[in-house]
Amino acid sequence: MSEAHAYAQTLGDEQSIWSKISPIMNADDPMGVLMRMSERYGGCFPIKLRSEKIYFLSDIDHIRHVLVDNVDNYGKYFDGLKPIFGKAMITVDGALWQKIRRPQQEYFHPKFYEDYFPHLLTAVKLRAEKWSGFAKSGETFELVEETWSLAADMVCRALFDREMPFNPHIVFGAVKAYTDTANHRSIRLKKERGELVEVTTDEAPAQAIGAWLTLPAAIIDALPWQQREKTLLTMLQNAEADPSMPAFDHQQVLDELKQYLWAGTETTALTLGWIFYLLSMHPEVAEKIRREGRNVYGDREPTCADVQRLTYTRSVMLETLRLYPPAWALIRTALGKDKIAGFLIAPGDRIVLSPYVVHHNPKYWKDPEQFRPERFAPGSIKSRVKYSYLPFGAGKRFCIGGQLAQLETVLALTLLLRRFRPEYVGEGPVKIEPTVTLVPKGGLPFRLCEIS
Ligand code: HEM
Repeated sequence: MSEAHAYAQTLGDEQSIWSKISPIMNADDPMGVLMRMSERYGGCFPIKLRSEKIYFLSDIDHIRHVLVDNVDNYGKYFDGLKPIFGKAMITVDGALWQKIRRPQQEYFHPKFYEDYFPHLLTAVKLRAEKWSGFAKSGETFELVEETWSLAADMVCRALFDREMPFNPHIVFGAVKAYTDTANHRSIRLKKERGELVEVTTDEAPAQAIGAWLTLPAAIIDALPWQQREKTLLTMLQNAEADPSMPAFDHQQVLDELKQYLWAGTETTALTLGWIFYLLSMHPEVAEKIRREGRNVYGDREPTCADVQRLTYTRSVMLETLRLYPPAWALIRTALGKDKIAGFLIAPGDRIVLSPYVVHHNPKYWKDPEQFRPERFAPGSIKSRVKYSYLPFGAGKRFCIGGQLAQLETVLALTLLLRRFRPEYVGEGPVKIEPTVTLVPKGGLPFRLCEIS
């Protein structure tokens, strides 16, 4: 059996937590169900699903307990996603995690932003050229496919010094076979019932993961774009060659690249997608973003420093991340005994923490369903309840690329809105679909008009 086929077999594993919570995820209003359950049963309650208890946390004190105060008692949970990440940093714990994260951390420090900026700018300008074609033809396109390609191009150029050496539409279609975990269940049921369709559904994930596994080598083998010496990719390659860094064997390097190509792209892509969707409903906010761009950098190209000064544009991004946090659930496994809200937690118990439910809780956010970028005006952090805003997680496992993602998003927003008026052309309000990430159900069909 090929590696890809072996991975495909793990799809729909009945023991996977994603499989277990799929009845909730398949509900008509899954996030509403979770919020109502939290309201009724409190900020920590066990859900009994097929004889196993999963603790669902949405109270910030309990979340802080798991992510910060007693963090070493809770390991990362990635069973269903092994094919995507292998043994990358995002999946491992303890001393190994520290050894892998520490040397990479430097490449996400703001001191690198000036260096990355021209490459991010190039990626956005190239995307804008493509969008100009959409505007001319008047065609409808799938927005998240576009923003995903943009996010991947930004990561490839800035962090790896490569032009994206793969077709993003094929590759990311492949990833969705794994991250759309509710779909795992239907694949498993088909397998159980032995329907003929099983052959095709089983083959498709195998092909998908086959495509995914070729990516790291494609990145490594592609010609460097600008011949930069100090990039995240060269750091990983040097670490592999350095006997004093045994944690970085060849497989580790490949897995780190896979991790960035998913965790560092889909999240940013969804953020941009949800922002454009909200702006379609709130054209006055889009206008304010354009006005801010004109005031800060006028007709010239923005610099990295200009982008830091786009505080309103930034607040729109932060408010969107509150309403639609791409990582809507963070999952952990208890390593030892613990007590949360009076419940005895046993080793092996699963803990689901939900930034989404926290972000929509009226206890922490006034009128939480309202889209109000002003909540994130400069200085507003002082009045915010600590740990009530978790789009990038918290504690030592917080997102390594969170600041970079914000730079990418604000830059893309200001430049694309300066040139285009994106319009959502789907039928009715978009529903939320909680796969591993929070995606717009049925996608985001968009059309563009170019501002003359
Ligand atoms: C808006 C965009 C993004 C969002 C919302 C986001 C969200 C998150 C969250 C919530 C976590 C913590 C997961 C947990 O605790 O279980 C995380 C971890 C991580 N993110 Fe992001 N992320 C974004 C962009 C990026 C980018 C641009 C990169 C890199 C290019 C990146 C790389 C990572 C990595 C490597 C980790 C694992 C860190 C560790 O385990 O030490 N993310 N992200």
